Amino acid sequence: MPKAVSSPNIALIKYWGNRNDAFRLPAADSLSMVLDMPTVEATVEGADVFSVRSYDADGKEKPQNEESVARLRHHYDLSKEYLRGIGRGKSLPKEVALTILSAIPPAIGIASSAAVFSCLGEAYAALVEGKPLSREEVSILSRLGSGSAGRNSYGGFVALTNHGDGIASAYGEQVADESHWPLHDIIIVPSMKEKKVGSTEGHAGAATSPLFAERVRAIPKRMRECISALRTRDFEKLQIVSEEDALDMHRVMESQSPPLQYLSDETHRILKAIEELRTSEKLNVFYTMDAGPTVHLICTEDSVKTVADFAEAQKNCIVFKTKTGKSSRLVENEI
Ligand code: PMV
Repeated sequence: MPKAVSSPNIALIKYWGNRNDAFRLPAADSLSMVLDMPTVEATVEGADVFSVRSYDADGKEKPQNEESVARLRHHYDLSKEYLRGIGRGKSLPKEVALTILSAIPPAIGIASSAAVFSCLGEAYAALVEGKPLSREEVSILSRLGSGSAGRNSYGGFVALTNHGDGIASAYGEQVADESHWPLHDIIIVPSMKEKKVGSTEGHAGAATSPLFAERVRAIPKRMRECISALRTRDFEKLQIVSEEDALDMHRVMESQSPPLQYLSDETHRILKAIEELRTSEKLNVFYTMDAGPTVHLICTEDSVKTVADFAEAQKNCIVFKTKTGKSSRLVENEI
């Protein structure tokens, strides 16, 4: 019974909008840092009927809504389609029973879907008999459930890049491993209220923004800058390009139809306060936000204490202290 573990990633160059929604093929490349926690564990077992049981960090069973079960089921179907296409689909069970244990609060701007679908990508890969799948193939399986999950198949800093057409034409590539540059991500969650519009629906509307085409054009240069900043450990360069890209993505979200306003007044208050603290204390810290009001503060070892103290001092917020982490991986494979 394959059991896999994974954690979220935080995008420095964001993925927003698809060139193909059905296969979750992104309109542009993206790049993220894999985090070490909070973790998700998934166990997969062959079954006659597809089923999902999901538990939170305290072991309490979470009721599943129809929509999320349908998404998980569709991901398994797509996974089978992809594996058959590469001649590796023979040994797959007709259906699967999934058990998912997640310590990540869903839908608040911490990539829980990246962690869940990269776990499933690992576990489905383990159901394939014969030669193990390559990391690229595991990344494709993960990406079919959530685009950003394709960036969890390697540790450290990972790009999701486009290559031609078809179901397999976007996958993860490692830029640098987790030991290259240990950075921290201090996550401030101002609201545990789940967002109304998830990223699947959001991606589908991205191209309606008048700013979308320009964003897609700007990304190759930002990718090059981000990769060079990471390779040379140039924090200031990483800060400039990451903040620019995060704000650009939110301008696209806010100008698409219907508009998506993920950032709250509380988010903007935290951003202003961290900018002031960065200047007064000369900190190596920058901010980035995904599809939610949650603020991710990326910082270096010498700045983390002050940044963590700042995060803990924010009223009514939940804080996660994370750092550069490992890839999604298999932890057990007993039949
Ligand atoms: O993988 P998805 O469909 O949840 O999309 C992720 C979108 C963002 O988190 C907003 C950006 C990113 O690149 O992670």
